[in-house]
Amino acid sequence: MADDSEGLTREAMTPHLSGRLFAAERYHFHPRLDSTNQQALSMGQSGAPEGTLVVADAQTRGRGRLGRSWCSPAGENLYFSMLLRPPLPVHQAPRLTLVAGLATLEALRSAGVPGVLKWPNDVLVSGRKLAGILTEMATEGERIRHVVVGIGVNVNGTAQAFPPEVASRAVTMADILQRKLHRQELLTALLAAWEHWYDCFLTDGFEPVRMAWRSQALLEGQRVRIETSSETLDAWLEDLDGDGFLLARTTDGERFRVLAGDVVLI
Ligand code: BTN
Repeated sequence: MADDSEGLTREAMTPHLSGRLFAAERYHFHPRLDSTNQQALSMGQSGAPEGTLVVADAQTRGRGRLGRSWCSPAGENLYFSMLLRPPLPVHQAPRLTLVAGLATLEALRSAGVPGVLKWPNDVLVSGRKLAGILTEMATEGERIRHVVVGIGVNVNGTAQAFPPEVASRAVTMADILQRKLHRQELLTALLAAWEHWYDCFLTDGFEPVRMAWRSQALLEGQRVRIETSSETLDAWLEDLDGDGFLLARTTDGERFRVLAGDVVLI
């Protein structure tokens, strides 16, 4: 397949932006950006509305969770960020990461890729990372001023071409399906799935999201190492609680709740 970045321009995407949230006038494509999250955060600061979408063909400083970088070569993958202004208290913002995971997984499945979710923000296939989500926000007292949900999906190319420290832990859709995919189709499916689950969350609350998320996730019985800012623990995963936090049990049988941290599969 020739470079399909033309399919990501505003002109090409316009017919696919007819839902409630996304629209052509709020869609911003850049051949190259430092980070779509950074751009969407600045636009949020300048008053851009809910549903503003920033898409890039390449990122020079793609950001991952916990200060990591996100490998973002041109012509191959999806990198985009959604600017949102949900009427939610700040403590509920991390749930948007779970909503995004569910939407991403659903879109990947519709393209024929069998993935699973790993708390809080990963889509994995055979233990390797296919997609990641980074949620960042600006607050105003106890309310969210704006929040940016950024999604990166490894689509075409091969993970073997990533830097060595990433290559062994990553995978692309093309690696799995042995063919290249149209990024426009995938982005369209992802935006539709996001809109569905975001509406569901805002209308019906977190419980339907939680039920769907936990049915698609690596959870009960999964052996992991959990790294928080204060400690590293070997544990068994148990469940996702009603606030979106992870419930786990140490190898000594003590139950605990993970509010933030990194979960490494063992
Ligand atoms: C992670 O798994 O650590 C999160 C990765 C998130 C990457 C995406 S790519 C689009 C958006 N812009 C960024 O700078 N990061 C997110």
